[in-house]
Amino acid sequence: MNQDLPRIAIIHGPNLNLLGTREPDVYGTERLADINGRLVQLGKELGVAVDALQSNHEGEIVDHLHSIRESHSAVIINPGGLTHTSIVLRDALLGISLPIYEVHLSNVHAREEFRHKSYISGIAAAVLCGLGAQGYEFALRAAASKVAGR
Ligand code: DQA
Repeated sequence: MNQDLPRIAIIHGPNLNLLGTREPDVYGTERLADINGRLVQLGKELGVAVDALQSNHEGEIVDHLHSIRESHSAVIINPGGLTHTSIVLRDALLGISLPIYEVHLSNVHAREEFRHKSYISGIAAAVLCGLGAQGYEFALRAAASKVAGR
C-alpha cells in the first residue's frame, strides 16, 4: 500500500458485481473488473491511490465506510438500489465526514419513479448519472482535484 498518496475509496453496491451481463441495454456490457482497472490506472495518473469494493450487503458497506474514515480522503459510491431505500447508508456517509460523489451508470431520472428519490444526493458533493462508466472517471477527477486542494 502506498502510504504517501491520498486515497480515494470507490464503492459499488448491490448487484453491480453482475455488470456486463445484467440488463446490458441499461448498464452496458463492460464488467466491473474492467471499470475498476481503468479507475486504478486513472488514479495513478492523477496522483491518488484508488481502492475499490463491491458488496451486496448494506452492513458490510457501512462497516467498510467506518473503516476508511481516517485513511481515505473521499468516497465515490454507486449505492445501487440502496440509493432509493437506505437511511442507514446515508447516516454512515454523514458519519464519516468525507466528500461523497454519487454515481449511477443509468440516468435514474429517466427511469421508474421509485428511482427518482435518492437518500444520498442531498449529502453528496456531486451526483453523476446517465454517463455510464465514464461517470466514475469524472467523479475520480473531481475528487482528486478536491483532495489536492485545486
Ligand atoms: C444504479 C441505478 C439504481 O436505481 C439501480 O438499483 C442500480 C444501479 C445505476 O448505476 O444506474 O442497481 O445505481
